[in-house]
Amino acid sequence: MTYRVFNFAPGPAMLPAPVMARVREQFLDFRGLGVSIVEISHRSREFEALLAETDVLLRELMGLPAQYHVLYCHGGAAMQFAAVPLNLMGRVPSRSADYFDTGNFAARAIEEGRRYGTVNVVASSADTGHDRIPHHDAADLNPDAAYVYIASNNTIYGTQWHRFPETNDVPLVSDATSDILSRVIDITRFGVVFAGVQKNLGSAGMAVVIVREDLIGHAAPHTPNLLNYQTYFKDHSLTNTPNTFSIYTTQLTLEWLSEQGGVAAIEQVNRKKADRLYGVIDHSGFYRGFAQPEHRSISNVTFGLPTAGLLARFLEEAGDNGLYALKGHRALGGVRASIYNAMPLEGVEALAGFMEEFERRNG
Ligand SMILES: Cc1ncc(COP(=O)(O)O)c(C=O)c1O
Repeated sequence: MTYRVFNFAPGPAMLPAPVMARVREQFLDFRGLGVSIVEISHRSREFEALLAETDVLLRELMGLPAQYHVLYCHGGAAMQFAAVPLNLMGRVPSRSADYFDTGNFAARAIEEGRRYGTVNVVASSADTGHDRIPHHDAADLNPDAAYVYIASNNTIYGTQWHRFPETNDVPLVSDATSDILSRVIDITRFGVVFAGVQKNLGSAGMAVVIVREDLIGHAAPHTPNLLNYQTYFKDHSLTNTPNTFSIYTTQLTLEWLSEQGGVAAIEQVNRKKADRLYGVIDHSGFYRGFAQPEHRSISNVTFGLPTAGLLARFLEEAGDNGLYALKGHRALGGVRASIYNAMPLEGVEALAGFMEEFERRNG
């Protein structure tokens, strides 16, 4: 038996066990070709078929209407912090966009956006340490902005948008790196949804970018070819060698998700997992949840312990109990349990049980 623990890493994160088993089984011989997926041309019939299957699965699982296109882009999610303004800001004379500052990754997107145009920060959660999605009024949004930008789930702080902002005709852009396919969303509310694949989709090194057709073809003239949505769209993401292994693991993960009953079914499991952990936190005078209850994430559960000594002991003992990678991000400290789609209920149950028992001994 291979040694495996429950992996709560924020990303790269655990992949479903059957996906990993399939990778192992097929690694030397991809679909009877006698060569590995990492040894075949991205222009081969077999790879093109794999890419087409990935597309069909993703479209089906997300319920994408025909006017939305899927691009498989280089550079992970953070490259989109530049690609978004480069592709979209020039659509409007003001060359401006509205951003919500909900902490780290949103802040980095803001910084990047400022290189290419005017960024209006319409609301920020900085003054409360990013423990919530900041309040805003519809009137705070600029009707002449090129787009409104949010990070739908804030991986570090464990906060999540549960009601997306009303932006009328201004396209809404979402960084969904840590919650794509974890809950049902109405894609027609968005102009662009992008995600690094390393949490809910596959192995690291690529971003999936879902773009509404009318937003393609407006890139600033100096946009590098491989950051231009039009390039990826026109060449079906095969302008140059894509991350073939990442596309492969994504296809397998999407197939697995389909077998689980799709996004609505996994959302139920995800809510159950999150409720179990928040239940322990709320019934305890010992653990302190970081995110405000109404803004809590179903992907990343963040909490603190009474002292630094207890935190260190908690993390050490958790590790000894097969509960891996629970240390919070350095910006926040404490504990963070990342419980993406691949984390089974048993893993969350094991963590919840450990938390209860640790509190009994130390509370
Ligand atoms: C919400 C969010 N956006 C962006 C990123 C950056 O992703 P990448 O490392 O693929 O650039 C992360 C990484 O964890 C993230 O959680």
